[in-house]
Amino acid sequence: MKNQLNNTILVTGGAGFIGSNFIVDWINAGLGTVINLDKLTYAGNLENLAEVKENPSHVFVHGDIGDRNLVAELLAKYRPYAVVNFAAESHVDRSIHGPEDFIQTNVVGTFHLLEEVRAYWQRLCEEKPSEFSNPDFRFLHVSTDEVYGTLSSSDPAFTETTPYAPNSPYSASKAASDHLVRAYYHTYHLPVVTTNCSNNYGPYHFPEKLIPLCLLNALAGKSLPIYGDGQQIRDWLYVKDHCSAIRRVLEAGQLGETYNVGGWNEKANIDVINILCEILNELKPKADGTKYQSQITFVKDRPGHDRRYAIDASKLERELNWKPAETFETGIRKTVLWYLEHQFWVNNVTSGEYRSWIDQQYTGRAA
Ligand code: NAD
Ligand code: TYD
Repeated sequence: MKNQLNNTILVTGGAGFIGSNFIVDWINAGLGTVINLDKLTYAGNLENLAEVKENPSHVFVHGDIGDRNLVAELLAKYRPYAVVNFAAESHVDRSIHGPEDFIQTNVVGTFHLLEEVRAYWQRLCEEKPSEFSNPDFRFLHVSTDEVYGTLSSSDPAFTETTPYAPNSPYSASKAASDHLVRAYYHTYHLPVVTTNCSNNYGPYHFPEKLIPLCLLNALAGKSLPIYGDGQQIRDWLYVKDHCSAIRRVLEAGQLGETYNVGGWNEKANIDVINILCEILNELKPKADGTKYQSQITFVKDRPGHDRRYAIDASKLERELNWKPAETFETGIRKTVLWYLEHQFWVNNVTSGEYRSWIDQQYTGRAA
């Protein structure tokens, strides 16, 4: 029990890539009940939660973070001591094709969620018995390093004080949501914390993103599409390390603060794909004796493609004593093994809507 609240958290977007990893780890660690509010867009998949399907500590609710009545009802019914907001449209390329959903969920949806959380928080403060201090509640907003924009090769990594300069509709919508969260702290004293994490990879990653897309294409004998010259740099973090950072910030982060989360693993896209191919060459050699690298194809670049992201995670390490458990080399090997061992999940996600996205995105994109 946390003050007069239940040992329950409300997680939004918990059927997606990171949210599902977070919930599975939370439940397996016996940390309490999770109410999982997810709209089940193309990116939401209940198969990601198969491990906790029968567990009464996981309560799935199909719905939208922008549905204020539903959010109010869930908060009143379950009285969570925290809300962790993962729900978002998350794919940059989709935001370029159609930004509308990004504005609706990431900006308007987060705003509606904040409004209902604010009302809930105010009620908690009013009803608290006199022997309690303010309820130990917090709203944790999960955000991205992409809000900081792009770096040149000589720039220092992003810190929490780097000015926001988002360049894609996705990152602009996340930046807007971060600003709303910040404003609710300063204006209404809503107890919030925000995390800004670098690129994640690992189990349950939807295969529209670079690593799972190339992994599955490699196994299917298809081309591995590298945008532009492949020299764009991303800072990669194994998803379970992101989840451990969120748990730590939830537990000990200072209210109103933001924390950068990263793994000190800057890599050019072409190097990531070469490492991936090398692991596949070893674990699943091709029958014809050729290397998976032969499937690499350079395709037309993404419009407005950010050149480099790099996260300075020293605040989180110094103040909250957090460290990632995986290096890129250990994490990527675990990831490849996971995909090789989870053919049922792969077949489940690579049907339907996913196929039509791949047709739309990659047809006619040869460089
Ligand atoms: P994802 O696209 O895999 O999952 C998003 C989930 O949110 C899906 O289950 C979807 O159904 C749900 N959702 C979408 N709109 C919703 C709505 N209106 N109401 C309720 N649920 C909704 O995304 P992800 O990669 O798991 O990312 C989760 C969060 O982490 C996002 O906020 C993203 O910006 C952030 N983030 C992601 C990365 C990364 O590398 N993937 C890195 C840093 C931060
Ligand atoms: P992505 O996984 O979409 O994440 P983000 O855009 O949020 O960083 O892309 C990671 C990098 O890989 C990015 O620089 C774009 C590049 N990329 C490709 O080269 N080819 C692809 O098919 C995809 C999806 C991404």
